[in-house]
Amino acid sequence: MSSLPKPYRIGRPPVTAIVRRQIATVRGGEQNVRRCHLRGLSGKNGEEIAPRVRYGRRVASRIPDIDAGARQRLAARFGSDVERWFAELPGVLTAVAERWGFALGAAIPRGSVSAVFRARLADGRRAVLKVSPDRARLAFEATALGAWPTPHTPDVVALDEQLGALLIEAIEPGTPLDVSGAYPTEESVATLLSALHGSGVPNPSYPTLGQRVAYLFDSSAKLYDRSPNLTTLIPRTLYEQGRRLATRLASDAGPVVLLHGDLTPPNLLDGGAARGLVAIDPAPCLGDAAFDLVDLILWQVDDLDAIHERTRRIAAAAGLDAERLLGWCIAFASMIAMELASQGDAHNRRLQALLHLASQAYTA
Ligand SMILES: Nc1ncnc2c1ncn2[C@@H]1O[C@H](COP(=O)(O)OP(=O)(O)OP(=O)(O)O)[C@@H](O)[C@H]1O
Ligand SMILES: [Mg+2]
Repeated sequence: MSSLPKPYRIGRPPVTAIVRRQIATVRGGEQNVRRCHLRGLSGKNGEEIAPRVRYGRRVASRIPDIDAGARQRLAARFGSDVERWFAELPGVLTAVAERWGFALGAAIPRGSVSAVFRARLADGRRAVLKVSPDRARLAFEATALGAWPTPHTPDVVALDEQLGALLIEAIEPGTPLDVSGAYPTEESVATLLSALHGSGVPNPSYPTLGQRVAYLFDSSAKLYDRSPNLTTLIPRTLYEQGRRLATRLASDAGPVVLLHGDLTPPNLLDGGAARGLVAIDPAPCLGDAAFDLVDLILWQVDDLDAIHERTRRIAAAAGLDAERLLGWCIAFASMIAMELASQGDAHNRRLQALLHLASQAYTA
């Protein structure tokens, strides 16, 4: 459930003021969170595109080239209208670099909802700038990151909700798991989970896990429209059985924690020996802790026995019910199989293992 739209717009995102307060208290006031108030920019037909930038003194840093990949990734996500947003991007980058006093570095060639850049703050610290046409999503992300008083998420440096710009601490070395290909130890996963679930405040303004489940199954089902042949490999009945099981698990009574909501390998960075795993890019929601482990358990695994063994070991390390964790994996196996298949992933054994696991939804 990695590359698909996420329910950042479910419910009303908590306001930026909360972000500022939380960051100030949580980070002991160390962070300098500032917010710009800029006027809205009108498009050709008078519609709002992005806030207008008032150009002031130019920053020393050059605006980096926007890579073609970013245009493609964001167009796939937001449609061809995103070109108008790209046309405004140099002005937005100039404005936030000047106001927040950082030098822009190279673009990071990743990210499907935002353009991501390296940055260097005035005091020498490294940071990462995310700019996105989905401004509500960035504000929501900043709120969640600010609510986690743990080194296992990056600090928020500044947010401009109107410009759709979020400046966060750069994680070092910051290699995402999908790039290193290194499977984390169960101890490091348990430490991360305990930090996220144990310290996050389950503010009722976040969406519920039931809403997240509905959103994920609805959005992934669109892959059937794009690639009708998928039904041969992953019958819709199997997919819907997974949805039923996930819906049931989400509605079970039990402890509710603040979930990361999108704990996929690309969103897990290597924070170095002392810091361990660091989770970025949350889609926070409230529900059962086991949900956050599904993508990690079903990553890089080619047979059912290995899935069972991994589930047992990680559940034991994280203090979770292995049966329930396996239930979540069964529920999402067809969706993850569909993502693999639609990306042309040729790991046939992995697909077969996922489909076999998914079929257990009929009896779970
Ligand atoms: N704080 C950070 N430190 C180091 N690298 C980062 C940081 N934040 C993001 N990155 C890099 O930028 C990439 C894209 O970031 P992110 O996942 O937040 O973007 P996104 O547009 O929300 O992506 P998507 O929705 O496709 O997952 C990450 O995979 C990582 O390589
Ligand atoms: Mg991401």
